[in-house]
Amino acid sequence: MRAKSLHGHALLRDRARLRAAEGSALGRSRTGVRLAGALASLGAMAILAAALAVGCEPTAGHDRPVLLFSSDNQGVLAACGCPSNPTGGFAKRQGLIEDYRRTRPLVVLVDGGDLMPTRTNPIKVKYLAQGISRAAYDALALGDAEFGLGLDAIRELEREYKLPYVCANVRDASGALVVAPHVIREVSSPKLGGARKIGIFAVITPTDYDWPPQKWREELKVESPVEAAKREVGELAGCDVVVALSHQTLEESRELARAVPGIHVVICAHDRKILRQPEKVGETLLVCAGEGGGILGALAFGIGLGGQPEWALTMTELSAHVAEAPWAMDLYWAYVKEAKDKPPPDWNLAPLVTTYAATEACGKCHPPEYKQWSTTAHARSYESIRKTGRQDDPECLLCHTMGLGRKGGFVSMARTPELGRATCQACHIVAPDHAVRKIKPEPRININSRLCMSCHGVIQSPDFDYYVYKPKILHRPLDAGKK
Ligand code: HEC
Ligand code: HEC
Ligand code: HEC
Ligand code: HEC
Repeated sequence: MRAKSLHGHALLRDRARLRAAEGSALGRSRTGVRLAGALASLGAMAILAAALAVGCEPTAGHDRPVLLFSSDNQGVLAACGCPSNPTGGFAKRQGLIEDYRRTRPLVVLVDGGDLMPTRTNPIKVKYLAQGISRAAYDALALGDAEFGLGLDAIRELEREYKLPYVCANVRDASGALVVAPHVIREVSSPKLGGARKIGIFAVITPTDYDWPPQKWREELKVESPVEAAKREVGELAGCDVVVALSHQTLEESRELARAVPGIHVVICAHDRKILRQPEKVGETLLVCAGEGGGILGALAFGIGLGGQPEWALTMTELSAHVAEAPWAMDLYWAYVKEAKDKPPPDWNLAPLVTTYAATEACGKCHPPEYKQWSTTAHARSYESIRKTGRQDDPECLLCHTMGLGRKGGFVSMARTPELGRATCQACHIVAPDHAVRKIKPEPRININSRLCMSCHGVIQSPDFDYYVYKPKILHRPLDAGKK
C-alpha cells in the first residue's frame, strides 16, 4: 500500500519536473548560439563517446533525451582538487548535469547509491540533502552508505527534502519495503515519438560488504535482487523503458541482467570497474561508472522503429576541466562554516593513541627516523590543505593532521602546530614515553596496507599501492638490511 501511494507522488512530482524541463527547452532556443559553444566543450570533455546502435541510428544527436547516472559519491560535496585525484564530488557533477540540462531537451537523472557519507557526519548529510533536493533527481538508489544513516534518517530525508529514494528488495521489521520500489517518469519528446514512460527501480546486494550495519541486522530483511527485479519488471510492464539501479558488484549486476528479461538498462553501482563501453547481456545494456564518484555517465536514448529503446553512452570524467556549479560550492562553504569548530565527523578508522606527541618528541630518541620523516609528504600535509584554502574543513583536517576532535589531538595551527601533519603516530601506535615505561612498541607487523588505507582511501589516493608507496616512506633504503 505504502509503495503504491509513494509511486503516485512520484508521478505528480515528475509531471511538475516535466513542465520545468519543457520550460528550459524553450529557454534553449533563445540562447542557441551561446549554447553551441557549451555543447562543443561538452564534447571535448567527454573521455569517451561510444555509439551503440541497437536499432539503426548510429550516433546520438544533441537533440536526444539523456539518462544521466552516477554512483559512489561517498559524501563528497566538493572534491579536494588534489593533484592525486582532482575528480568527482557533488559540485562538479552538478556543474556537468546543469550543462546537460541547458543543452538537452530532456534529462532523466539517477544515482546508484552511496551519495551520502559513509561515516557519521550529520552536518554534511544535511547540506548534501539540500543539494540533492535542488538537483531534482528522478530516482536515488539506497546504497550501504544510506542504510548506514539508519532507516529513520532515510525516511526523514525522504520527507523533509523530498528525496526520491527507491529500493525494491529491503523490508523493515513490519515486512513493508523500506522505501518505494520504483518511480515512473512520464516524458515527452519528438525524438521519443511522443509521450513515454520510464520505470526506474533499485536493488541492493544481499552479500559482501559490511551492511546492513550491525544494529539493523535483525530488523532489515534483504530479499533476492533477482526475485525483486522480476516482480518490478512485472509492475513496470506498462513502461517503454525499464532501468535497474543495481547497487551490486559487476558480476551480480550481470547476473541480474541475465536472469531477469525485460530490463533495458542495468546501471551497476557498486564495483571498482568502470565500463568504458557498455556491455550487452542478452537484450540488456549494462553500464558501470566505477567507484569514487569520478564519472558522470550519459545514455542518450531514442525509441527505435520497432518500439525498442536505443542508446549511446558518453562517460565524462569530472576532472579539472569541469566547472563546479556555483550554488553547490556555496553550499559547500556554508557547510564548512557550520562544521568548523564543531565536533568532527566520526573517524573510527584513524589510529587511536592515548597521548598525541610531536614528532620532535619521538625524534629526540630516534634521530635518523625523524630526519627521514621530515623529507616525506607526511611532514607537510597541513600545507597542502592550506594552499587550497580548505583548512577549515574538518574532513580535510582529519587526514592531514593528527587526532582532530580527540583528547590531546589537533585543535588549530595556533594552538597545536606540532600536530598539523601526519606524525610518527600516523603509523606507530606508540606513546612517547614508551621507552621510559619500558613498553616495547607494537611489533612491526602492525604496519600494513590497511593502516595506510585509513587515510589513503579510494577518493584521496586512488593510485595507492602499498608496495609502491611503502618504499617511499621507509626510514632507510629497503636494501640497507635490518639489525
Ligand atoms: C626516551 C627515548 C624515546 C622516545 C621519546 C621514543 N622512543 Fe621509541 N624507542 C626507544 C628505544 C630505546 C627503543 C628500542 C627499545 C625497544 O626495542 O624496546 C625504541 C623503539 C621504537 C620503535 C621500534 C620498535 C621495533 O619493533 O623495533 C618504534 C617504532 C618507536 N620506538 C617509535 C617511537 C615513537 C613513534 C615515538 C614518539 C611517539 C617514540 N618512539 C619515542 C626510545 C624512545
Ligand atoms: C593519518 C593519515 C595517513 C596515514 C595513516 C598514512 N598516510 Fe601517507 N599521506 C597522508 C597524507 C595526508 C598525505 C598527503 C600529504 C601532502 O599533503 O602532500 C600522504 C602522502 C603519502 C605519500 C606521498 C605521496 C606522493 O605521491 O607524494 C606516500 C608515499 C605515503 N603517504 C605513504 C604512506 C604509507 C606507505 C602509509 C602506511 C604505512 C601511509 N602513507 C599512511 C596521510 C596518511
Ligand atoms: C581520507 C583521508 C583524506 C582526506 C579526508 C583528505 N585527504 Fe588530501 N590527501 C590524502 C592522502 C592520503 C593524500 C596523498 C595522495 C597520494 O599522493 O596518493 C592526499 C593528498 C592531498 C593533496 C595533494 C598534495 C600534493 O601536493 O601532492 C591535496 C592538495 C589534498 N590532499 C587536499 C585535501 C583537501 C582540500 C581535503 C578536504 C576536501 C582533503 N585533502 C581530504 C588524504 C586525505
Ligand atoms: C607512513 C608511516 C610511518 C611514519 C609516519 C613513521 N614511520 Fe617509522 N616505520 C614505518 C615503517 C613501515 C617501518 C618499518 C617497519 C617494517 O618494515 O615492518 C618503520 C620503522 C620504524 C622504526 C624501527 C626501525 C627499525 O629498526 O627497523 C622506528 C624506531 C621508527 N619507525 C620510528 C619512527 C619515528 C620516530 C617516526 C616519526 C619521526 C616514524 N617512525 C614515522 C612507517 C612509518
